[in-house]
Amino acid sequence: MKGLILSGGKGTRLRPLTHTGAKQLVPVANKPILHYVIENMAKAGLQDLGVIISPETGESIKEEVGDGSRWGVELTYILQAEPGGLAHAVKTARGFLQDSPFVMYLGDNLIGSGINHLLDSFRQDALDALILLKEVENPSQFGIAEVDGQGRLVRLVEKPKEPPTNLALVGVYLFSPCIHQAIDKLSPSWRGELEITDAIQMLLDEGKRVGWQSLEGWWLDTGKKDDLLTANTMVLDSWGQREILGEVDAASQVSGRVSIGAGTQIINSKIRGPGAIGAHCLIKDSFVGPFTSIGDHSRVEGSVIEHSVLLSGVTVFQVDRLEDSLIGRYARVSRHNRHRSLQLLLGDDAVVEF
Ligand code: TTP
Repeated sequence: MKGLILSGGKGTRLRPLTHTGAKQLVPVANKPILHYVIENMAKAGLQDLGVIISPETGESIKEEVGDGSRWGVELTYILQAEPGGLAHAVKTARGFLQDSPFVMYLGDNLIGSGINHLLDSFRQDALDALILLKEVENPSQFGIAEVDGQGRLVRLVEKPKEPPTNLALVGVYLFSPCIHQAIDKLSPSWRGELEITDAIQMLLDEGKRVGWQSLEGWWLDTGKKDDLLTANTMVLDSWGQREILGEVDAASQVSGRVSIGAGTQIINSKIRGPGAIGAHCLIKDSFVGPFTSIGDHSRVEGSVIEHSVLLSGVTVFQVDRLEDSLIGRYARVSRHNRHRSLQLLLGDDAVVEF
């Protein structure tokens, strides 16, 4: 069984971060999302993994992730010239996949559970496709499945205006090589993409064996800011651990499950877990509240931060209260006067809410 990770795409919903970086490399609890994906696949015994990349962000993904040896897997990078849809990505990977069954995993999806049991069911039931479903509150933003009274899958629809159910397709799918014949017959949807939901629908229509399971535990599609903050909260809450490698001075207090990287200094500050602070940071005269992740080489002085994700090299200076924020690399948020005016230098697609 092979694995295919989809790490291309446009990432429009996560601009401006995705102007300069891949969304799959945005950190959750200070670790790129893509690492969780690879770890989960490696844990399920998948060793031969293809990674779909785009021309814009492919090089940064290769650089960050490498050849996969640190997870004991072999990664093959596959360039998708344009983001033509999830089924287009599978088509692009045809040479790599050959006639092997495979797990397709969206590189921006995080799930709280392992996938071993899915591989077992797929093999035992000799399925052509196995999908995972999860109830969501906003079904018109997802691929949605309709299941009949006997629990049989009847229909799949991509981002329906009037959703028949609230059962969304989670970004982990298992396929037999049958899926390629279905994809070959697809034409682009109204969005101009080759949709994987249409290909699975075709398998259903042809009477192929398509199974489904509901996902126990959490699932987060990290495509937007608030989803990413929720992912950060869930990961810190579920998997966060206390590990203090940096220095905490006598005037500071670190409570709960907080990780603090090497070379970081905590001076006259309170840090309340769960939280993650990277390496070589300075946190001074500040309060860092629960569910906050701060990337390496960041500096926080005279400020209060809660429920936020700061990438690396960020400066936060004299900010009374920063919350529910996602701040890109080397961004600086500082207050230099007590006037109520804002002085901003913002990149394209930046969002300021106060
Ligand atoms: P999406 O989040 O559906 O699409 P996107 O990345 O283009 O984002 P946005 O809607 O904000 O513009 O994609 C899910 C995952 O699949 C994500 O990791 C990107 C990847 N992907 C590809 O690799 N190739 C593609 O053609 C598409 C559409 C997505």
